[in-house]
Amino acid sequence: MSDEKEKKSLVKRLFKNEEGSAFFQRLFKSNKDKSGFISGKESRRISKANSKIIKQYEAQKKRKNVSESEYVTEMKDPKNIVEFENLHTYFFTDAGTVKAVGGVTFSVPQGATVGVVGESGCGKSVTAFSLMQLVAAPTGQIIEGSEIRFRSTVYKEQDGQKVPIYEYETDENGAEKIKERQKLDKRGVPLRDKQGSVLIEKVQKTDHNGIPLFETEEKVYNVAKMPTEIMRKIRGREIAMIFQEPMTSLNPIFTIGDQLDEVVLLHIPGATKESAKKRTYEMLKLVGIIPENVYKRYPHELSGGMRQRVMIAMVLACTPKLIIADEPTTALDVTIQAQILDLLRDIKDQISGSIMLITHDLGVIAEMADFVVVMYAGRIIEMGTAKDVFDKPMHPYTIGLQKSKPSVNKQVDRLYSIPGNVPNPINMPAHCYFKGRCEKRIAACDGEYPCIIDVSSTHKVACHLYMDENTAKEGK
Ligand SMILES: Nc1ncnc2c1ncn2[C@@H]1O[C@H](COP(=O)(O)OP(=O)(O)O)[C@@H](O)[C@H]1O
Ligand code: SF4
Ligand SMILES: [Mg+2]
Repeated sequence: MSDEKEKKSLVKRLFKNEEGSAFFQRLFKSNKDKSGFISGKESRRISKANSKIIKQYEAQKKRKNVSESEYVTEMKDPKNIVEFENLHTYFFTDAGTVKAVGGVTFSVPQGATVGVVGESGCGKSVTAFSLMQLVAAPTGQIIEGSEIRFRSTVYKEQDGQKVPIYEYETDENGAEKIKERQKLDKRGVPLRDKQGSVLIEKVQKTDHNGIPLFETEEKVYNVAKMPTEIMRKIRGREIAMIFQEPMTSLNPIFTIGDQLDEVVLLHIPGATKESAKKRTYEMLKLVGIIPENVYKRYPHELSGGMRQRVMIAMVLACTPKLIIADEPTTALDVTIQAQILDLLRDIKDQISGSIMLITHDLGVIAEMADFVVVMYAGRIIEMGTAKDVFDKPMHPYTIGLQKSKPSVNKQVDRLYSIPGNVPNPINMPAHCYFKGRCEKRIAACDGEYPCIIDVSSTHKVACHLYMDENTAKEGK
């Protein structure tokens, strides 16, 4: 019998057969009953409602000449560089609202590495994109009431101009005065005014690469309220992001040198082609690359590990205060992974910045993080110092993650995997999102979503097991 005939006869037999027919009936019925199933009419209704909401949010972001008082704020703790408070980021899709991040509160202290960990799809990247104002708009929006405070070092401005830092010298009377020199044209010839007098200019301080320096000041911005045009000044210069796949950020048709120089020219005022190249060389050396070997090469000519190093050099070129590394080593093999993590650690100290390290791999977090934030289905379920979370994990999900982490000291036949799936993000239940997968659930878990409680001054968990002494003892 031909394949086609065999298939037809099998389907016929299944329909005739009682068990087969019941199977098809169940299949069609379950498709209709699926909670995610919506009719065309319903989808059109959602789409109409969404476009109204989206319009409002987009108009808010595109406002021009907004007074600073609307988005300049104060840090709750001056030791932090970032504070997320009650962050909600939703996607208004035609199938319904995807609550990708549903009320996240945590901070990144100055000089620290904060690891954000959780299974794929739990909202780690959306949290980071919210901080960069890079959530996929117009469907993706940071919801009213969210706050993302970022301590930024911005250029001081007077009458719309950056304020230069000048060189000083002492005059013949011993008084300090700004150093002056003859103004030259491009060929080095002194410039003169109409009367023929030589023009004089004040000497601006430069760094060791010859890039002129300007006065800066600190400002705390609420990124959730900041118009896009202001955000553009911070993005890339103050907060920079390293992705899993460096090819997404490197342009295949330009050389490494051209791309790095371009970043410096774009973000550092006063940089010239010559000083930008000097800075590029310096950054390449910092990430362990011999500049002459890669400056004229194209991205595809480098290995994955080298490309990731170039990406880190690119990020460093602007001396950001915060580096977001989103699964930076996931695409690399284990030895290269370790080298890149070492590099990130060194660099953080050199620029005295902070790192927000996003990964699904608890092993990477253990290597690097001072603080750990564990996310599940768009919410934080546990957080604390690395010691808190690794030595004394409390939430059943964190315990499950620990068990599923490969270890060199322990021989296991099969890695543990947490059974079950994350609930549908469009229809989140009112109870604990982990309930369907939790082996320790108790009666209280049928009730409201557990609030986050302090276990110690640094350790927090959201689980009914720890709501009070009595409930903790009832754990199954
Ligand atoms: N552009 C988008 N449109 C709709 N849903 C999205 C979009 N981007 C992300 N999501 C949803 O947001 C949730 C969180 O995604 P993400 O932050 O990328 O997860 P991860 O923790 O793996 O980084 C997921 O449920 C994902 O499906
Ligand atoms: S609240 Fe209940 S269901 Fe949720 S993780 Fe804790 S014990 Fe499990
Ligand atoms: Mg991600």
